[in-house]
Amino acid sequence: MSIPSPETYAEIAPMRRDEPLSQWTTLRIGGNAEMFFEPHKPEKLADLLTALEKDGVPWRLLGAGANTLPPDGGVAGAVIHTGNMRRIFRDGDGLRCWAGATLPSLVHTAHGVGLAGFEGLVGVPGHVGGAIAMNAGSADWGIWDEVYNVVLWMPGERDGLKMEEFTPEQIGPKYRDGNLNGAVVLEVHFHLEPQPPKAIKERQDDILRRKNKSQPVSMSSAGCAFKNPPGDSAGRLVDAAGMKGFQVGGAQISELHANFVLNRGGATAEDVRSLIAQVEERVEADSGIRLERELVVWPEPL
Ligand code: EPU
Repeated sequence: MSIPSPETYAEIAPMRRDEPLSQWTTLRIGGNAEMFFEPHKPEKLADLLTALEKDGVPWRLLGAGANTLPPDGGVAGAVIHTGNMRRIFRDGDGLRCWAGATLPSLVHTAHGVGLAGFEGLVGVPGHVGGAIAMNAGSADWGIWDEVYNVVLWMPGERDGLKMEEFTPEQIGPKYRDGNLNGAVVLEVHFHLEPQPPKAIKERQDDILRRKNKSQPVSMSSAGCAFKNPPGDSAGRLVDAAGMKGFQVGGAQISELHANFVLNRGGATAEDVRSLIAQVEERVEADSGIRLERELVVWPEPL
């Protein structure tokens, strides 16, 4: 594929070439993106996706990079980062925000205006778009529980419409899976419950205290690497298989919480892939359960 010049999409969003993705992931891993875009608003993101599709340019979305492992060999085509689309608006009984709003700012804003519901996102890095795509949350709660509707960009032609509104019932999100099937989050409207800010803050602080004790929050990781199997915890299973502290190159299973893969310095995507493959084998041999990945692993280029 020949790379379109920056001017091709200049009216939609500025383009950078050969952007190191290690700067944009919480694991600090990833080769270069051939083209890197940061659109400024949802309409521009939709226009960019439509233009790239029309030109046959492969693309991938990246939010805060908090659950993504890009390959060491980089990404051919375009990576679109949502970091410039951060706005949050007060809207009726809730909040409306763009896909790049950060989860910490969403938690902070909701507390400030006395709206409860986001306590399960305390301490979670991420952007709203990525959180909706994977239904981020805590053990038995996901962000979709608070969604009133989402505005999505739909791949392919659907009566010429590229931006459409959907309710949670129409989408059918599941545990750690937003069920978007290739659609891209542009905006999200949340309905939340009014409560005194003081009560919200107390719950947030309590959750944060527990996370600070049980998770390696200050280390370079991508959060939980595996989904919890029904009725059990992936962290407990990896721990029971004796894999706490297990290391491949610079990648290591946290000593504190066994569902966290850490970059202890200089880890490559290959180190992480090899580590999680070995964890899957050992846990299956130990418990008979095949873990399902929560970490989104992008393939190495051919
Ligand atoms: N456990 C162990 N060893 C470990 C880790 C956990 O034995 O190394 C045991 C704990 O003692 C506890 C059980 O496993 O009895 C569950 O552990 P925890 O309370 O830490 O919750 P979790 O199921 O491991 C889930 C989410 C986290 C979320 C926490 C708190 C998943 C995959 N993980 O963890 O979400 O922060 O609850 O709400 O659903 C994420 O998705 O990235 C994430 C970090």
